[in-house]
Amino acid sequence: MGVDPLVQQIIESQHESAASQMKFVLQVIGDFIVFILHVLWLTCLGTFRMFSPAPKKSVKGEIVLVTGAGHGMGRELALQYASHGATVVGWDINPITLDGTITDIAKMNYPKAYAYTCNVANRAEVMETAAKVQKEVGSVTILLNNAGIMPCHRFLEQTTEEIERTMNINIMAHFWTLQAFLPDMLKNNHGHIVAVSSVAGYAGQLNLVPYSASKFAVRGAMEALQVELRTNPNNKIRLTTIYPYMVNTGLCKQPVIRFKSLLPIVTPESAAKHIIDAQRRDVIDTSIPGFLLGLGCFVRIFPSKVLYLLMDFVGSYLETDKN
Ligand SMILES: NC(=O)c1ccc[n+]([C@@H]2O[C@H](COP(=O)([O-])OP(=O)(O)OC[C@H]3O[C@@H](n4cnc5c(N)ncnc54)[C@H](O)[C@@H]3O)[C@@H](O)[C@H]2O)c1
Repeated sequence: MGVDPLVQQIIESQHESAASQMKFVLQVIGDFIVFILHVLWLTCLGTFRMFSPAPKKSVKGEIVLVTGAGHGMGRELALQYASHGATVVGWDINPITLDGTITDIAKMNYPKAYAYTCNVANRAEVMETAAKVQKEVGSVTILLNNAGIMPCHRFLEQTTEEIERTMNINIMAHFWTLQAFLPDMLKNNHGHIVAVSSVAGYAGQLNLVPYSASKFAVRGAMEALQVELRTNPNNKIRLTTIYPYMVNTGLCKQPVIRFKSLLPIVTPESAAKHIIDAQRRDVIDTSIPGFLLGLGCFVRIFPSKVLYLLMDFVGSYLETDKN
């Protein structure tokens, strides 16, 4: 006696669904093994790189745009990139200090450098100046979003204008320069974007509510952009985010430091060198000094209050600039 066709159909469809479930499970197991192998490989490579850093790529012939090139780290970045044979394009809101940087580059035997007065917080100005750079110098291949301000006092003492300026210069400007320069980088599948965040963009700091918020935003923007760019398997645009602690540029007006040898205020020269080394080695993120980033990640494993206890123990912060 033959099997009822309906029963036969049910049995076949049950076999099919069991087979497709088995295929799905095997695929998940396969993906998981590949994932674990990648994690192990990246962990080994990361550990190896701690002792033997990746070779530095050349920046000779690259067009490097530095925002805030008139003073502090921006000035040093401009000088050092020029010394490595890059064509430097300096942007700053202050034409006098910017000219100082470009004149100093001209005094050396470095490639010609270019100065453009630009308020990076103003999108129209950024677009207009970027078009001039494209016409007069060429396509920017390394973008350094460095310009920033830091009003340092209690949140309720921060004026509305200060809060808006902090957000406009410290994060909105990054969006405008990305809108201006990323399309060419994508077209040529070549480029590097460096963003200067801050240790205050990893852990909220006293007297710096808007500043910390703006620097956390830089971190978020860079991480999300990284996720977006890697959807192209052939992507060759690299991103680097920098988290400096305290740099001796005058930006941190009243620093209080408990362990001066563990957490010294670094010079703008050494900060710029650290940033350029990270960019040339394709480091995705780094702090200055280097150990702070690892410490920041590690402490987040613990309950939130541990972070505050650590901050109390380290005893480093910025006094209000109102005194
Ligand atoms: N100095 C530190 O301790 C420290 C620590 C962590 C992060 N950072 C960050 O590093 C970056 C550089 O800091 P710095 O200490 O060299 O600052 P700085 O004040 O020495 O120099 C900043 C430069 O940016 C320029 N600038 C300001 N507003 C601008 C605007 N709207 N458009 C164009 N240019 C503008 C200024 O004219 C100045 O030349 C900032 O983003 C800052 O937040 C600094």
